[in-house]
Amino acid sequence: MQQIDDLPAMDFTSPEYRTKPFAVLSDCARRWRIARSARGVELLDYDLCRAAIIDRRLGTGHPKLMDVLGLPEGRALDYKRNSISFHNRGPRRRDLRLPINRLMGPDASERFRTDIRAVVTRVVDAIPTDQPVDLIATLCDPIPSAVYCYWTGAPFEDAAYIARTSHRVQQVHTRNPDHAGDIVAAFESLIDYVDERIRVRRADMGDDLLSDLIRATDAGALSEADLRNWVIKLAEANTDNSSHQIGIALIELAGRPDIWARLGADPSLVPAAVREVMRFHPRSISTSREVMEDMVIEDTLLPKGTPVFANIGAAHWDNRYYPDPDRFDIDRQDEPPHLNFGGGIFSCVGRYAVTMEVEEVIALLARRHPRLSLERTGFSHSPMFTSVSELVATLDPTERSAA
Ligand code: HEM
Repeated sequence: MQQIDDLPAMDFTSPEYRTKPFAVLSDCARRWRIARSARGVELLDYDLCRAAIIDRRLGTGHPKLMDVLGLPEGRALDYKRNSISFHNRGPRRRDLRLPINRLMGPDASERFRTDIRAVVTRVVDAIPTDQPVDLIATLCDPIPSAVYCYWTGAPFEDAAYIARTSHRVQQVHTRNPDHAGDIVAAFESLIDYVDERIRVRRADMGDDLLSDLIRATDAGALSEADLRNWVIKLAEANTDNSSHQIGIALIELAGRPDIWARLGADPSLVPAAVREVMRFHPRSISTSREVMEDMVIEDTLLPKGTPVFANIGAAHWDNRYYPDPDRFDIDRQDEPPHLNFGGGIFSCVGRYAVTMEVEEVIALLARRHPRLSLERTGFSHSPMFTSVSELVATLDPTERSAA
């Protein structure tokens, strides 16, 4: 049996990874099913990733993440410790997830569609169509944060605050202790905001997700603290990831005029196109776990406490599962589901809602703006995430030339 040190090494700081991350991951997946990196053990094979994501011997990597960041004792760390992210498999995690799974499962999420479409339309209506526009600021960031306002019955004017604060708390994934102070300040602000939002909503209940969560709490399914932690968690997990994934989808789809024209003419193709975006260029390049008891994967001894990363990017570009993985093909069929939202008991609770959100953005823009022109786009890739660093586009260049 081999040790972790015997595994081949991957380097996420290499110039190749920075410029062509998925080609590098694909090449690694062709050569190795398992490897090591500076952050821990990397699983590269699709089936191995899938098995690890649901393996009962692998728990949440969040506590270690907080150690790496050096988050001080206080309200932010208390929130983290009590939120879903710190809970491993077991009855407490199951009880915490049950009410939210009911409210955000595949069928339950469908009830959001009409309102999400209205939020998307409202945001798109406000974007000038005849000039180059920063779509990160005017489209990608406002939509998820406006959806959060809709879910919590908050005024839409709060969306900019939600987007900003979500960006700041998401810095936990940089693993950089230099950000600890800003992360703590952002969490403290979010905790106060959520306490006030719950207070206001409780006095004036409506037909929204927060009101449903308050009803579940009043029925005894959640404690007051758990309710508050879920409402913070939804802001924390929702906005940043969704914003980047909307931007990625727009760049990948509008950047291929033939596909953009097909989507504009036939919106029934949009769900398959969004699935292929999430396979080809996922927001989540990996998801983390930690070994809870000594275990063996691929004849390698992984001692308790080892950080393990299901490398979603490598799995999605593994040519044994996705033939010609570098080919962007919205007509792919009979291939395994993408892993952009993880899986099993740790799976993303917002996966159905956010997929719908991205679909609604693409369907509306492809129909309304068949000539949408991308002027400047840019990505950056960490071992954990794809981020859209620049997205400037003109929604209707014909209006510009007519002016
Ligand atoms: C495209 C956008 C999004 C992506 C790519 C994404 C991805 C992920 C991933 C990879 C995980 C970890 C799953 C695992 O390790 O098995 C996760 C967890 C989570 N996501 Fe998302 N997510 C997105 C949007 C959202 C939204 C919109 C919400 C809420 C409304 C949300 C709420 C959560 C929560 C609460 C967890 C933790 C679940 C747990 O620990 O049980 N996410 N997400």
